[in-house]
Amino acid sequence: MIDNSLPLTDIHRHLDGNIRPQTILELGRQFGLPLPADNLEELLAHVQVTRTEPDLVSFLQKLDWGVAVLGSLDACRRIAYENVADAAAQGLDYTELRFSPYYMAMKHQLPLPGVVEAVIDGIRAGCEDYPVMVRLIGILSRTFGEDACTQELDAILSGGDGIIALDLAGDELGFPGSLFLTHFTRARDAGLHITVHAGEAAGPESIWQAINELGAQRIGHGVKAIEDPHLMDFLALHRIGIESCLTSNVQTSTVPSLEQHPLKRFLEHGILATINSDDPAVQGIDLDYEYRVAAPKAGLSPQQIRTAQQNGLTLAFISEAEKEMLR
Ligand code: HPA
Ligand code: ZN
Repeated sequence: MIDNSLPLTDIHRHLDGNIRPQTILELGRQFGLPLPADNLEELLAHVQVTRTEPDLVSFLQKLDWGVAVLGSLDACRRIAYENVADAAAQGLDYTELRFSPYYMAMKHQLPLPGVVEAVIDGIRAGCEDYPVMVRLIGILSRTFGEDACTQELDAILSGGDGIIALDLAGDELGFPGSLFLTHFTRARDAGLHITVHAGEAAGPESIWQAINELGAQRIGHGVKAIEDPHLMDFLALHRIGIESCLTSNVQTSTVPSLEQHPLKRFLEHGILATINSDDPAVQGIDLDYEYRVAAPKAGLSPQQIRTAQQNGLTLAFISEAEKEMLR
């Protein structure tokens, strides 16, 4: 359960994996785009994960309908704004929302820097209307290859201090981190924080690579660290955080069940692990649900859940003074 006396954070949430199904319907109509259903009830079967997917790539296909309806920069602004409204409605005090400009721009050939500006704008407007602190993380979608990621990085850097970190997401098995060394060097030189999706579809070597070659300060998912005792020690010693997303890891077949999720063992090992949502609208969950399953399913003790909640703020890519404002 969430401890209401502690700040509630979600530091691993995809803005473009968290588009309201109702908004998908409305934008589809607005732009005259063919959707697989014309009412909300039937649309849910297409835009949400309704069963365990066989692998990460099949899971990611569920996100495609959401970005397919982004027919204008205004639509990008709208979904960013609604992400802030929904984060506040779910009781979050702080969230880092991540997005892939290339993925959002692709279907309707929107200008990449325009998408970045629209998202920053939507977040700013949302933060004026709702009581939640939000920061943005830019994603390089590895699935589209190095050249697309270069364009994507250019756009992310054009956002200036509107974007505080860089991530690498998408097909981890098909596109290893080694393809993106120059991208991450540029991002670090520009002063961005680094988090990388690793050890989700691929093994512990992908996590080592994210740390040693890409400069990751945090790891998205990191499930496969449990297979490498030396890596477990290294993560704890160097305070490299793990952004756990319990339900997502079952839905992508990364773990066979919540009962077998390694989050509890990460915490026992002294690793700064956290509880986050990933793509809540696509997964049909919210952060409250993730906290509610943490004890009965993933086996965390009440104290371990509190520790995970506190770790969220510890790992946040903001200054100590900003963290103090949230405490
Ligand atoms: N893994 C990789 N890429 C993603 C994910 C994920 O869990 N969610 C959205 N993009
Ligand atoms: Zn993710």
